[in-house]
Amino acid sequence: MRYWWENDFLQVKNNKLYLEGIPAEEIAHQEGTPLFVYSLQQIKRKYQELVKAISHLSPLSFQVHYALKANSNTPLLKTLRTCGVGIDAVSPGEIKKALEAGFPPERIFFTGTSLSTEDLRFALSVPGLCLILDAVELLAPLKEIHRHLSPQFPLKLGFRWNPGIGQGFNSRVITAGVSSPEGIPIKFGIEPNRLEEAWAQAISLGFQPIGLHQHLGSGWTGTDFPVVCQAVERMVEIAQRIEKEWGVLKFLDFGGGFAPRYQENQLPFPLQDYALTIKNKLTKAKLKDKLVIFEPGKFLVAEAGILLVRVEYIKSSFGHLFACVNAGTFNSLPRPAIYPEARHEVVNASCVHSPELVPLTIAGHLCETGDVFAWQVKLPLPRAGDILAILQAGAYGQSMASTFNLRSLPREIYLS
Ligand SMILES: Cc1ncc(COP(=O)(O)O)c(C=O)c1O
Repeated sequence: MRYWWENDFLQVKNNKLYLEGIPAEEIAHQEGTPLFVYSLQQIKRKYQELVKAISHLSPLSFQVHYALKANSNTPLLKTLRTCGVGIDAVSPGEIKKALEAGFPPERIFFTGTSLSTEDLRFALSVPGLCLILDAVELLAPLKEIHRHLSPQFPLKLGFRWNPGIGQGFNSRVITAGVSSPEGIPIKFGIEPNRLEEAWAQAISLGFQPIGLHQHLGSGWTGTDFPVVCQAVERMVEIAQRIEKEWGVLKFLDFGGGFAPRYQENQLPFPLQDYALTIKNKLTKAKLKDKLVIFEPGKFLVAEAGILLVRVEYIKSSFGHLFACVNAGTFNSLPRPAIYPEARHEVVNASCVHSPELVPLTIAGHLCETGDVFAWQVKLPLPRAGDILAILQAGAYGQSMASTFNLRSLPREIYLS
């Protein structure tokens, strides 16, 4: 029997979990827990999977920019750099991290929001980087800073617009549209009827915008495809108008958002059809000379990382069974605590299967009810000392973790 999550990185042998051929228990005992284990090979495999699908854009050219916010680990970044990806950074800290990992400024896009004058100043101190503005209101301060700092460098500038529709697995990660399903107004991007004003104002200030960016949200599966296609259509339409008026577009950045596989019954996002849709629409609109950019974060790294934790004891309370573990979600993998829809597969690495499965809640050690890695999951009853593996932990784990309750962050190791 093969589990849906088994792959070249994660395998089951003799009822134990193996990571790139090494028993997970052995790694946990040697390195201690909680522990993030990353497979650099798995990142390369995910990159190849992505490129194979989006190559259907051919003969249009495309680039992949990794959204560094998903995981900012240097070995992961270096692995991605050798694959040939660029970077989507949203803060000066992320830009510095990308530069340290060897990414050339020409391959870094800065797509931050609510930017301060310090942020703009920093961006302008990195010649070659492309700045994507998400507010018309930033143009005047940008001009001021540019005049003082680097008038000799032509600024690579693009605009992030808000196409009026967004899509994501959770209300909080929908980043386009008027407001989120929870009613929070969406702060990102320039609204459609102000985009041309942005372009005109930029040109009047002596800038030459060269690209358009959108990011709809995160965690798309197959069911999201129709809405995503609608947003592609809107992007192509507005690009056509801009091209007609100013004829200067070099790239169209469609953002990230593709989900990795978190659950067995998850419908995969049809990457190949997405690429074909973009190609057909751009070709029809006579925009096929534009460079197409994608900014995946979690798709590239989520499945390349797992979190190993140790079961301390099994507790029974009000008819619920809790596997109490030596880690907290906020300190390692906050997703299940902050997004109720987030699911991570949990595997008992010490005993992967048994004829009898029990419903368990995997309880973290933080003082917060939401601090559970998973609830009502069916597992062989763990014993104290068993190692649990929380899967798909490579994205938005390490990068979102805090020292809440003054608990330390997990160590991280890399298998190549
Ligand atoms: C501008 C931008 N691009 C790309 C991404 C990556 O999203 P994902 O990890 O879902 O691919 C994000 C995520 O928030 C983002 O804000």
